[in-house]
Parts: sequence; structure tokens; C-alpha cells
Amino acid sequence: MNNLYITASARNKRSKSKDIGNYLIENIKWKTKHINLSDQNIPYLQKDSIAHMYNFKDYSKLSKKDKKIINQSNKYIKQLNKADRLIIATPMRNFGMPATLKAWFDLVVRVNKTFEIVDGQYKWLLDIKQTYILIATWAVNINSKSDYLSGQIKSLLNLMWLSNINIYSIEGTNILNQNELNEKLQQIKKQIDKN
Ligand SMILES: Cc1cc2nc3c(=O)[nH]c(=O)nc-3n(C[C@H](O)[C@H](O)[C@H](O)COP(=O)(O)O)c2cc1C
Repeated sequence: MNNLYITASARNKRSKSKDIGNYLIENIKWKTKHINLSDQNIPYLQKDSIAHMYNFKDYSKLSKKDKKIINQSNKYIKQLNKADRLIIATPMRNFGMPATLKAWFDLVVRVNKTFEIVDGQYKWLLDIKQTYILIATWAVNINSKSDYLSGQIKSLLNLMWLSNINIYSIEGTNILNQNELNEKLQQIKKQIDKN
């Protein structure tokens, strides 16, 4: 069985979302492909790459730059196709997701590749059995009025497949002292162990 582990924090040792994600990965002894989005230099979609995705422009007619965008999108979708479990560890940035994570979603939420529309109905083309979303925030509580992150991730995932989505969050990362933070991290890890 395969894990696809996506991390969106630019921080390494100090990252709380990665701390929880790494714990999960270490405790699930599956083969893991780790994509650290900060290292990826993910391109933004351009006019012609969008046209290709919606079947208005052949791949052969694309510029080198647009071909690179499509190739990257295909590569990420292939990784998703191989995954049995998806783990996304991310900070909240400006009430939503980091730009790198949004850029990744823009490349993988793709008609006729990860979902299709048949007779006006959406159909999922991925089959991922389990999904973990691990979120770190400084102050905003997940599921509060100011949380524009967890709902957006759930909606995007629901476009591509319906799966068991587990969300764990650590809030107050820049407010709590080190002992309080460690305590919270331990609580989350215990919850993960129980599930
Ligand atoms: C540019 C930027 C924007 C942020 N925006 C928010 C925010 O809107 N709400 C919040 O609670 N925390 C916000 N934070 C704080 C991070 O979510 C918090 O530090 C988190 O622990 C970072 O994740 P990490 O520990 O995995 O690196 C922001 C941090 C940065 C750098």
C-alpha cells in the first residue's frame, strides 16, 4: 500500500504541521512518496495550458512553457493514481491555504483526469481510501468563521474522490509556550493512534 505525503510548510524542524505529518508517516509502515511543495517550483496555469486541459488546444501546439505545466500536472496526477492514502500537512496562511498548495490543487483537479462530468453529474476518477489533513495555525480555530482552509480542501478532495477524510489541527502555534505546544502535539498523536 502507498502513501502520498504532501507538505506545504516552508519550515522544516520548526514546522508543526510537518511534526504531526512525520509522526503519522513513521507510524504507518507503508511505502511513502513525500512531496515537499516548497521545493517544487510549481508553475501557475496559463491561457494555453488551461485551453489544453479543456480540450481546446493540442499538446503539440503548446509552447515549451505550457508543455512543462501540463507535464507537471500529469506527473502529480500519476502520483495520486498510485496512492492508497493521501496525507496533506499544511499551515494556514492568510486564512486559507499556502499558494504552493493551491498551485498543486490547480494542477491535479483536472477534468477527465481526476474527475469527469457525465450527464451533468460529477464522477470521481481517483480511488484513495483514506485522507489525513494536518493543519497548523497561529490563532484561527479550524471550523471557525475565519477558517477558509479546511472547507476548501474538503471541497476540492470531494471533487476527485469520496474518501475517509480525517482532519487534525494544532492551533495557537505562535502563542503557546513550548510545553503547551508539546502537550497539544502529544494529544493529537494520541488521537491519531486511537483511529
Ligand atoms: C504569511 C503567513 C500568513 C499566516 N496567516 C495566518 C492566518 O491567517 N491565521 C493563523 O491562525 N495563522 C497564520 N499564520 C501562522 C501559521 O499558520 C503558523 O505559524 C503555523 O504554525 C505555520 O505552520 P508550520 O508550523 O507547519 O510551519 C501565518 C503565517 C505566515 C508566515
